[in-house]
This record gives sequence, structure tokens and C-alpha cells, in this order.
Amino acid sequence: MKPIPLGILGSGKGSNCRAILESIRSGSLMAEVRIVISDVFDAPILDIAREFSAPNAYLPPGRFHTRLEPQAEAELVRMLREAGVELVVLAGFMRVLKSLMLEAFPRRIVNIHPSLLPKFPGLEAWKQALAAREEVTGCTVHYLDEQIDHGEIIAQREVPILPNDTPETLHARIQIAEHELYPAVIAEFARKYQES
Ligand code: GRF
Repeated sequence: MKPIPLGILGSGKGSNCRAILESIRSGSLMAEVRIVISDVFDAPILDIAREFSAPNAYLPPGRFHTRLEPQAEAELVRMLREAGVELVVLAGFMRVLKSLMLEAFPRRIVNIHPSLLPKFPGLEAWKQALAAREEVTGCTVHYLDEQIDHGEIIAQREVPILPNDTPETLHARIQIAEHELYPAVIAEFARKYQES
């Protein structure tokens, strides 16, 4: 038994982090959350980590709004390495990661996005899908690269858009799909890690 060591990064409510921790608890995901890190001091994702007794930390992001200050990104690399993290899992992390992180963890950073990429990158992708009068949207797990919501796609799950959907009902249905897809994709990484 060799659980894959994960580092989870998030800025908000942490429902994907919870789904991952629950999958580990139930035995369907052979992984170990070594650290949960947030750039938001009072983010609910840190409370979820505490609820599951997972190590957690607040990372002061510095003076920028959409990325980390270079010293903060260097500190992030240090924290993840010190925790022995093999796979970095972005779960609602609202800052763009730069080359420091990408070079420290090549093809070892994944993100989940609430649309069928390459459609609707960026914020509130479910609203974009509604506005475009799509009949189907969904969620995507992809590797991180230097562009926003752009790296190589690993897996997708479709979600139908229903005639009476509001942004809220659609977003909630996409999140249910995310909570199934993300642990399943990480379980694939875990299987490969077991064999390595
Ligand atoms: C998810 O919808 C994910 O697709 C996007 O950010 C949201 C995070 O939600 N990248 P949560 O914090 O996991 O509930």
C-alpha cells in the first residue's frame, strides 16, 4: 500500500476538497492529503481540512490579486516539497500559478474547471454556457500550463442544461459531477503511483 501524497490548493468553499477527503476515507481513493493550502485566511476549505484532520496552512499571497507574489510562490513550492507532495490538486484556487510552480511540479499539477474546455474558460463558466444557449456543458480536469484553464485535458464529464436551469441550479449540478470526476481522476494517478 502506497497512497499518493496530495497537496490541495483552494481559495473558497472547498466542496471538491471534501469530495476527495471523503473518497480517501471511504477507501475508494488510495491517497493521502499531506497539506491543504489556501491564499484566503478564513476560507472554508481550511475548516474542511481541519474537520478531516488534514494538515493545513494559510499562505499570505502578497500584494497582487490574480497571482502570488514571487516570494509567496517560492514559499508554496517549499511547503509542498517539504510535505512530500507528488500531485498538486487545484480545487477552486483563484490565482494563476507561474513558472516557479510549473517547473517545480511538471505534469504534476491538475485543475478542475466547470465547463467542457476548451469552451468557456475563465470565471463563472456555467453562466457563459447558459448565455451561449448550450444544451450540454460539464466539467474538465486538466493539467496546468501557463495559460488560464488551458492545459492538456485529462477527463471530462457532461452535464445537460435543462430548460428551466438558473445559474444556481446549473452550477449545483456541475458541482455534483465534479465531485465524482475529480476523485476518479486522482484515483488513476494513484494507481500509476502504486506501480511506480
Ligand atoms: C469548482 O467549481 C471548480 O470547477 C472551480 O472552482 C470551483 C471550486 O469549488 N475551479 P469548491 O471550492 O471545490 O466548492
